[in-house]
Amino acid sequence: MNAVITAYPDITRVVFTAEEIQARVEELAGEIEEFYPADAELLVVGLLKGAFVFTGDLVRALRRPSVRIDFIIAGLYGSGMDNSREVQLVHDTSTPIEGRHVLLVEDIVDSGKTLNRITESLDQRSPASLEICALLHKRIAKELRFEPRFVGFDSPSDWLVGYGLDLGERYRHLPFIAAIEPGEG
Ligand code: IMP
Ligand code: MG
Repeated sequence: MNAVITAYPDITRVVFTAEEIQARVEELAGEIEEFYPADAELLVVGLLKGAFVFTGDLVRALRRPSVRIDFIIAGLYGSGMDNSREVQLVHDTSTPIEGRHVLLVEDIVDSGKTLNRITESLDQRSPASLEICALLHKRIAKELRFEPRFVGFDSPSDWLVGYGLDLGERYRHLPFIAAIEPGEG
């Protein structure tokens, strides 16, 4: 891991290695397979941009004949680590939600604002079911409308980057998850 720290000077420590993430994603897919009836069609909705890597890995680990995939882009005004901003729906799904088993895939639950905003919008469209799969959960959110049924890891309170997570749009491409110093970003 020292090579990693050298290559990315802002990174203070690796929190989850690529291998740990892959192993957990396989387990999560197993949990999801157990939860839904074998013949149910899933509509997996990835929350962009953060969940783009996770969604790709997760759907490839599912073992069922029928899975649809769509995306929502939720944005916060500004781009940094300030959580006091408003959630904006930038792009909605093109697949109708009504009557479908919707599995919303989120990268990380922090304040829960994003999830609350998006689940409210999806729930209004009468899905057959609505569940959330979050790779990371900081466990600090108060009053979540929907608690994620599937969680990859409880996460430290540090700002994390990699595996889709960014700091000011950087570091999404890292195959591991690391803590970063707030510095310049
Ligand atoms: P929330 O609305 O406060 O729960 O924040 C959710 C969104 O903020 C996530 O989907 C991420 O895009 C972003 N976010 C929250 N915490 C982190 C972090 O530690 N690293 C990178 N992005 C984060
Ligand atoms: Mg983000």
